[in-house]
Amino acid sequence: MAKSDLSKLVPLLPSPKTWVDTALQDFESFLQDHASAEKKASGMALSMASHYPDRLDLVSAMVDLAVEELNHYREVMRLLLGRKIVPSADRKDAYVTQLNKQVRKDAEYFLLDRLLVAAVVERRGAERFGLIAEHITDPSLKKFYAAITASEERHWQLFVELAWAHCAVDEIEQRFNELADYENNLVSTLPIAATLH
Ligand SMILES: [Fe+2]
Ligand SMILES: [Fe+2]
Repeated sequence: MAKSDLSKLVPLLPSPKTWVDTALQDFESFLQDHASAEKKASGMALSMASHYPDRLDLVSAMVDLAVEELNHYREVMRLLLGRKIVPSADRKDAYVTQLNKQVRKDAEYFLLDRLLVAAVVERRGAERFGLIAEHITDPSLKKFYAAITASEERHWQLFVELAWAHCAVDEIEQRFNELADYENNLVSTLPIAATLH
């Protein structure tokens, strides 16, 4: 797999139309959850930067990512507060919890799995924000979610590239595809709600 060749990676199955319908019907709840998701994404990037201080390119990428996700958080919070919506408490995200359980704890696999789980989560985020951008009618929100989609699209590719740089190359494609298969199955079993996952 050439560094830029992402085509051999199993695509995530499209989310059902009922998901975007549900999210748009209760858009306030979706915004509350979206804010939490961005905050957690920033925290995850900081955690990665802290755990691998000797991997300088990874630290640099994670510091940039933490700031970018925090900017997303600020933008979503502005949308919430502008609508006088009270932010919700962070909920336990069954989707992320289940995916994180797929991370093998052995030293040789731990970083690879963390990076590839992050890639899968970001890729699903990009897919779902893309659906919001496509179906929402408000022009400014459409523009906002199109920008978020482009950003999350870059993020999943960043995590794959970091795996490429830091892990055994021959394992990346196979492991990503295993995790993508797991994620596709997981998404089909979780209840549909006005949340990102
Ligand atoms: Fe984000
Ligand atoms: Fe992201």
